[in-house]
Amino acid sequence: MGRMSKLCIGVLGSGSGSNMQSILDAIAAGRLAADVACVISDVPGARILERARTHQLPGVYIDPAPFKTKLDGMAEQCVIETLRAHGVDTVVLAGFMRMVKPGLLRAFPQRVVNIHPALLPAFPGMQAWEQALKHGAKVAGCTVHFVDEGMDTGPIIVQRVVPVHCDDTAASLHARIQEQEHQAYPEALQLLAEGRLRVEGRRVLVQSA
Ligand code: GAR
Repeated sequence: MGRMSKLCIGVLGSGSGSNMQSILDAIAAGRLAADVACVISDVPGARILERARTHQLPGVYIDPAPFKTKLDGMAEQCVIETLRAHGVDTVVLAGFMRMVKPGLLRAFPQRVVNIHPALLPAFPGMQAWEQALKHGAKVAGCTVHFVDEGMDTGPIIVQRVVPVHCDDTAASLHARIQEQEHQAYPEALQLLAEGRLRVEGRRVLVQSA
């Protein structure tokens, strides 16, 4: 088993930041050994930046131009520098709607994690809960995984399953998935903090406590 070490987290998000909130709540409750050192968004008015302010955390908007769907070039450099300036050792993607590129992955090897609202490898990409609903899946869920160069393809740390009900709407299914996300993300990060994760190829081995 590895050594316990408190994580110094940098969060990247584009939206409401409810997953970041669950991480902050887990830290406050003593369930996660971590600090959130900074919050970065590619969306100027994102709620996640407001949440950062509420918690007196540095919240930084970084202009993603000229790219529409990825974090690359100058913006990527700027993100890396901001994360480094805040002493970040673990990069947490929490509703970040861009592909991260090799520059960021090289700067934080095996230390970029993501949460995805589906049971990967099913339904990668956008609006995954809606994809599951339209496909007629009977179960859905969420996945916390290490990020690699593909889209939602990296080694899986934790998954949680929820049922799909016949009267579900996209919104009701997403809400059910999000309840699980809010538990799964802090749990997965705590495993990382405890040094209990070992990546062997595609598999993440979780060592016992
Ligand atoms: C979450 O459901 C997350 O899994 C999803 O966006 C939502 C963000 O919510 N992420 C993706 O779809 C990434 N491709 P939040 O801003 O309230 O945490």
